[in-house]
Amino acid sequence: MEFEMYKKIDLRSDTMTRPTPKMRRAMAEAEVGDDSYRDDPTVARLQAMAAEISGKEAAMLVLSGTMGNLVALLSQARSGNAILIEERSHAFISEAGHISGVCGLTPRTFSAPNGIPEPNVIEAAAFEDRSIHPKTTMLCLENSHNSAGGRCLSARKTAELCEVARNLGLKTHIDGARIFNTARALNERVSDLVAPADTVTFCLTKGLGAPVGALLCGPSDLLEEARRWRHMIGGSMRQAGSFAAAGIVALETGVERLTEDHENTKTLASRLTEFGLQIDQDKVETNIVYVRIPKLTMKATDFVGALAREGVLINSPRGNRVRFVLHRDVDSSDVASACEIVAAILETQ
Ligand SMILES: Cc1ncc(COP(=O)(O)O)c(C=O)c1O
Repeated sequence: MEFEMYKKIDLRSDTMTRPTPKMRRAMAEAEVGDDSYRDDPTVARLQAMAAEISGKEAAMLVLSGTMGNLVALLSQARSGNAILIEERSHAFISEAGHISGVCGLTPRTFSAPNGIPEPNVIEAAAFEDRSIHPKTTMLCLENSHNSAGGRCLSARKTAELCEVARNLGLKTHIDGARIFNTARALNERVSDLVAPADTVTFCLTKGLGAPVGALLCGPSDLLEEARRWRHMIGGSMRQAGSFAAAGIVALETGVERLTEDHENTKTLASRLTEFGLQIDQDKVETNIVYVRIPKLTMKATDFVGALAREGVLINSPRGNRVRFVLHRDVDSSDVASACEIVAAILETQ
């Protein structure tokens, strides 16, 4: 193939971005203190911004989305309890089993086509309140839903689901690793999307493009409890302002431009469909698209390998399903190049 590749087009995840010059400058110049002593002004500023954006009383910086979800569970459920969680949720399938392995919780899964659960499914999943069952104490939602192809839960739907949870006496946590993508896609405020839930985690390192960090947001007393859990799992930090500074830049500069990623994803998805690939969801809403490679066309692993040889990176397939994730470091001309490369690969079949 004759494509002249100046750079790799990395569509493995939206975590593949490099810090912008502005982030690097902010990190170099950040005013710092010891965050374990609550002395770091830059961390304090980032946390205050996160509390305001989420509309929650308080926020706490954690190292990753996984750590935020883990600490949220540790703070709100006790070992031996059960939590309700969608069967393809990141916290259930891709966080190394902390739900049972660290928290001692029973994950009670339910399924939600397109990542959007129905209230009756949640009601049905809760264990009956009998002494022989684990006590169901929490509902975890994911917004946007990664494995469902970046699908969005609206504020209205979230309120409906959280109301069911509240009626069952459950706490609610939203894994909002990509809640800003949902906010942009639905034109809703993050604070409205998470208002019905007790806690939310959002990531700075996905579409927002920071190198490290996530925020757990919720009521002040719960966040005090969460601080202790964060310390127990080794997550207390010292001069964390040196990377929190990039998080502040990410929040200031990374949100509005997510729309560009969503547009690029739609363009990519529609071109891939023209080439005969099957989009694995009924709607592309944000920055993730899953595609099925028809078995007669080529093996998905060969497709991924052929793309990699041409400088387009995507993760290994699950079955015949492959994922493309768009982000700040992939622009519309990269999308056009990636499409040309896909077309050329498929033509050779
Ligand atoms: C939906 C979702 N939640 C949580 C996480 C975990 O974030 P981190 O990689 O920062 O631990 C991810 C990571 O991709 C994710 O996609």
